[in-house]
Amino acid sequence: MAIQQFRSKKLSLAVLISGTGRTLKNLLEHIEAGTLSAEVRVVIASTPHAKGLQYAEQASIPIHIVERQDYETRESFSEAIFRCCDEADVDNVILAGYIKLLEIPASYHNRVLNIHPSLIPAFSGKGYYGDHVHEAVLRYGAKVTGCTVHFVNNEYDRGPVILQRAIDVLEDDDVASLNQRVFEQERLAYPEAIQRLAEGKIKVEGNIVRVSQ
Ligand code: GRF
Repeated sequence: MAIQQFRSKKLSLAVLISGTGRTLKNLLEHIEAGTLSAEVRVVIASTPHAKGLQYAEQASIPIHIVERQDYETRESFSEAIFRCCDEADVDNVILAGYIKLLEIPASYHNRVLNIHPSLIPAFSGKGYYGDHVHEAVLRYGAKVTGCTVHFVNNEYDRGPVILQRAIDVLEDDDVASLNQRVFEQERLAYPEAIQRLAEGKIKVEGNIVRVSQ
């Protein structure tokens, strides 16, 4: 079945973070600059220690801390998160350096997005997060890597791919240099994908995403 999303309004977003919040900061900068037609209505963190919470505070965005340890099951943990999203009445949920696995409710099917620092399906799945991804790319000797924006299903780093940006792996690359150059691509890829969604230019057919220009 083809699902077509037509929108001309600003997208309202929940952004989920676990770490430094570079991704949240980048999205807020694009919104501020007018290159992303969206509003972050709520930021949900998996820990009160997430450094990225500072950006939500600076922008006066409501914050919720929802910790996995406070829930017996992944289902009840996920329900608490999506309840916050419902209360904030968001269109989409943006995983932004978020490391917990969620159970996506049917009502959020193809409404949750993630960005991963490799070309999925390479170097993705359980255990592949942060610098572990770049370490694995270097250890394998891959010559190309990059980032992937995708809709999220109930598996780590799986779901229909929206867009990918690739870079060459250079002879003298190390984890830090790869992290930096891949993140430069992420800075472009995530706002671009979300903007396409805002413009109603994303169509999902099964596992295939069609993005019109
Ligand atoms: C990036 O590697 C991104 O691909 C992944 O989380 C990292 C960014 O986290 N999803 P943060 O925004 O710096 O916290």
